[in-house]
Amino acid sequence: MRVLITEPQPGKGIDLLSARYDVTVGERGEYDSEERLMDVIGSYDALLSCLSTPVTGDVLRAGKKLRIVSNYAVGYNNIDVDTAKELGILVSNTPDVLTEATADCAFSLLLSVARRVREAEDSLRAGEFDGWHPFGFLGTELHGKTAGIYGMGRIGRAFARRARGFGMKIIYNNLERLDAEDERKYRAIWVDSIDELVRQSDVLSLHCPLTPKTRHVINRDRLAMMKSDAILINTARGPVIEEAELAAALHENRIGGAGLDVFEMEPKVHPDLLTAPNCVLLPHIASATRETRARMSALAASSIISHFEGKPDHAIPTLVYQRNK
Ligand code: DGY
Repeated sequence: MRVLITEPQPGKGIDLLSARYDVTVGERGEYDSEERLMDVIGSYDALLSCLSTPVTGDVLRAGKKLRIVSNYAVGYNNIDVDTAKELGILVSNTPDVLTEATADCAFSLLLSVARRVREAEDSLRAGEFDGWHPFGFLGTELHGKTAGIYGMGRIGRAFARRARGFGMKIIYNNLERLDAEDERKYRAIWVDSIDELVRQSDVLSLHCPLTPKTRHVINRDRLAMMKSDAILINTARGPVIEEAELAAALHENRIGGAGLDVFEMEPKVHPDLLTAPNCVLLPHIASATRETRARMSALAASSIISHFEGKPDHAIPTLVYQRNK
């Protein structure tokens, strides 16, 4: 079996696969182009891809021997899942193992924006600290505020647990309402439209997958519905927000602030966001802890191994197949 791993990754996944199969590991960024992938994919049985790997319909069709694409990420919007399904190629991702790290990152963005950590630190490093100041970098307290969560899957729920710990009220909107037990567990109150969620939230945190329905779900109109001091957090996918409109809202102080780990045209960041006030921007690092990346690596490799070895899916309890459905 030949396995293409698009680029080096931390963790034991590469060793696990190399011990069993004929493995090629690309250079960082080497397979970020469709053409380059199409040139080589025909001779591989499995592809271990990253978010930046464009696993398009053409790539999948060129993969004449391809049996599985294992994505080193929970999101898989880089993969044409419909074509994979048509061709009978299995697609797997890395759910569960990055839930806590991603929720931590969303919360650290929130705290940074609410307490103006970036601006305050920049000022100190610029030599401007002249002692305690009654008006110095006044921020916003989270306690007692309303956290609105759009997308109440694993990561949304992990964010809710954190928000609850900070004494916040939790409201949410999701494709489907949680059952009563989960609503009680997370003390989460269902709001039956995204518009209402946006209007009521002091903090709006996005945890939905990127789909045609969620693309630009936060657009000019919804930004206008937000409270003037509300904070927007995005650790989901960049295109969920209309970035130019967000930058304009921040520059015109129409909302309180934003914390973003993902961008519409990664790795490009809208230039107006770079100059926007009260905005914390991270280079897509939500899952970047040593522990999580090691688990992602093992899980991505195990998906390939279990598929080739014909083990039942439940051999890896955390594995979610997006297989043929
Ligand atoms: C994911 O897994 O989808 C993250 O965005 C990258 O780690």
